[in-house]
Parts: sequence; C-alpha cells; structure tokens
Amino acid sequence: MFEEGILLKTKIGADKVYDLSLGNPIYEPPPKFIELLRNYIENPASGLHRYMPNAGLAETREAVAKNLTNETGLIFSKEDIVMTCGAGGALNIIIKTLLDPGDEIVVFAPYFAEYFFYADNHGGKCVVLDHDDDFMPKLSMLEEIVNEKTKMVIVNSPNNPSGVVYPNSVLKTLGQSIKKLELKYGRDIFIVSDEPYRKIIYDDISYNHIFSTHSNTIVATSHSKDLGLAGERIGYVAVNPDNENKDEIIDGLTFSNRVLGFVNAPALMQHLIINLQSETVNIDDYRQSRDFLWTNLTDIGYEVIKPQGAFYMFPKSPIEDDVKYVNELRKKNVLVVPGSGFGSPGYFRISYCVDEHTLHNCIDGFRKVFLNHT
Ligand SMILES: Cc1ncc(COP(=O)(O)O)c(C=O)c1O
Repeated sequence: MFEEGILLKTKIGADKVYDLSLGNPIYEPPPKFIELLRNYIENPASGLHRYMPNAGLAETREAVAKNLTNETGLIFSKEDIVMTCGAGGALNIIIKTLLDPGDEIVVFAPYFAEYFFYADNHGGKCVVLDHDDDFMPKLSMLEEIVNEKTKMVIVNSPNNPSGVVYPNSVLKTLGQSIKKLELKYGRDIFIVSDEPYRKIIYDDISYNHIFSTHSNTIVATSHSKDLGLAGERIGYVAVNPDNENKDEIIDGLTFSNRVLGFVNAPALMQHLIINLQSETVNIDDYRQSRDFLWTNLTDIGYEVIKPQGAFYMFPKSPIEDDVKYVNELRKKNVLVVPGSGFGSPGYFRISYCVDEHTLHNCIDGFRKVFLNHT
C-alpha cells in the first residue's frame, strides 16, 4: 500500500490521492519535546551518546515507573521497566524471552498483522481468536484454542484496526479464563498488552490497565503515537510488579534487547522522555477527525462502529469481498487496507491520521463506490 500510494501520487499528483492506508502519526510532537531537544543541543551533556545498561537509563526507567504508579495505583520501580526500540522492539524482546520454539501465541482478530512475523522471528506461531459484531474477542471460545503449547495472549486496546477499547469486563473475564487454563495445563500463560495507543482515547472513557487482571501480565508500549515519535523508536516494557518471576523475566528482556541487536533504546530519546511522561499530542485533533469521518460515512450508509481510541476506523465492506471493495475505492484514488489483512475479511481499515485535505476530499470516493452497490 505504501509503495502503491507513492506510485499513484507521482502519476496523478499527491493532492489527488487520498491515502488513508498508513498508521503514520500526522501531528508533530508536543512543543515541550522541541524545547527539551533544543536544551540538549545547546547544553550538550557529557557521555550522552555512549552505550548504557541494556535495560536503559536509570532516570528514564524511574520516570516511566513513576508515571505507571500514578496511572495504575500499583507500585512500579525502575527494576520493572526495560526501555525498547518502540512497541515493535518491546514485543520482540518479550516473545524472545518467554517463548520456546513451537510455542503458541493467541491473538484476537482483528489483529496487528506484524504479530505473526514477530512470533515467527522466535520460532513461535500465532493462533487467532475470532471477534463478535462489536469487535470483542469471543472469550467463550478461548478454551478451544489454548493448549499445552500456549505461552502468551496478546491484547491490543485501543485496537488497531477497529479503534475499540476493551471494557474492564472483557479484560477481567480474560484474566479469569487464563488463570483457569494455567491450572489446566500446569504452565504460565502471559497476557501481553500491546498498548501504543493507550493515551489516544476519546469521550472521557478511562483506560483499563491489564495489571489488575492477573500477575502474569506485561505491557509493551511506545511513544510512537502519543508523542508523535514513531521514527525515533522509543518505547518500553513494564512487567507486573506482583509477578513472582519478574527479576528473571527482566533479565531475559534485558539480554534479549542486547542479543537481538537493539542493544539499548536510543539514548537521546531516553533523556527527552523523562520529562514527557504526562505529555501527549493534541488528542482532540484526532477526535475531531474521527467525528468528521464517522458522521460522513454513516450518513452515506456505511456500517461502522464508532472508535473509542487510536486513529483507525473499521467499516463493514458493503460487499462480501473486502479486497474487491478496496480495489474499487483505489480506482477513486482512495487508499485503505482490506480487513483480510487483519484477520477480519468483510471489513476495511481507514487510518484517519491524515491532513484535512485528505480527510475532507476522500468522502466523495467513499460515497461514489458505496452508491455503485445500492
Ligand atoms: C497495534 C500496534 N502494535 C505495535 C505497533 C508498533 O509500534 P512502534 O512504532 O512503537 O514499534 C504498532 C504500530 O503501528 C501498532 O499499531
């Protein structure tokens, strides 16, 4: 999609292509980020660019721990945190640490497709749990797919691609089910919460942290989206402070950071985010885009669940074949991604982290293709 978008833009002009296919944050990092960056450039600290402990700078891990303590009410310390190269790096070190070759990871459809590649990197395999009409995982079917090889369940809320935020009731049921399945199979099964969109939520809903559901819980996240720093590769892993094996897990994560070649998360970014833990890009800008798009699409007649977070929307394809529908939209220069790529055929994903011109002018294409099928 990325390549195709570039090709089409070169052919017919960038302003005539409405590329809603990418999850690349549109907004610049908060002004405080620039201020802190300028300060580092004007007052260079000695040793700023050197190697450091593989888990990251102590001050950064302390700042992250303090923020998590404030958000969750649990007591985190720097010993529970490993700084990573984004959420992608975080997930890879978690999988490397916990999985043995042949182990399985349960993912909930619709899912972030990279999970399959990350599992494969470490000899693991993803198994998919289907969703209901509200994009909630069918937890009553969890027992059918968990077995003696299951090591991990990945939860992604706010969800890419659906934009739903899982309610506490879903997470609680998940925790209870996993505890039962651990007893049944006599082994630990970890709930890994992949939450790079945690701070991008709307309508005053509060975020439900995973930690209270089970002690075998680990968070993988980043500042790619909440601070608009996707290209800077900065994120972290937080292990539940109540986990009885947390020291061993943190050792594994730290070692994995090193031997997977990440070594440590970027030093400059680690210094900067110390004072940015309570900052975000302007979430209201994303909310306005969500409202505009959702209102226009539903007015046309699309069936689409109003997202509560992230910057994606996942409408139902008006025809069964989502790939065909996406190709029809492409002919109107509207680029989106088929739901099949997220394990949910019959839907398509729109990224609304785009400029105003794209957001406003894509509507006509959505309308024309919809009306072709009515
Ligand atoms: C659900 C999900 N997880 C993980 C990532 C990876 O994020 P990062 O850029 O922090 O590696 C993304 C990026 O789009 C994502 O959507």
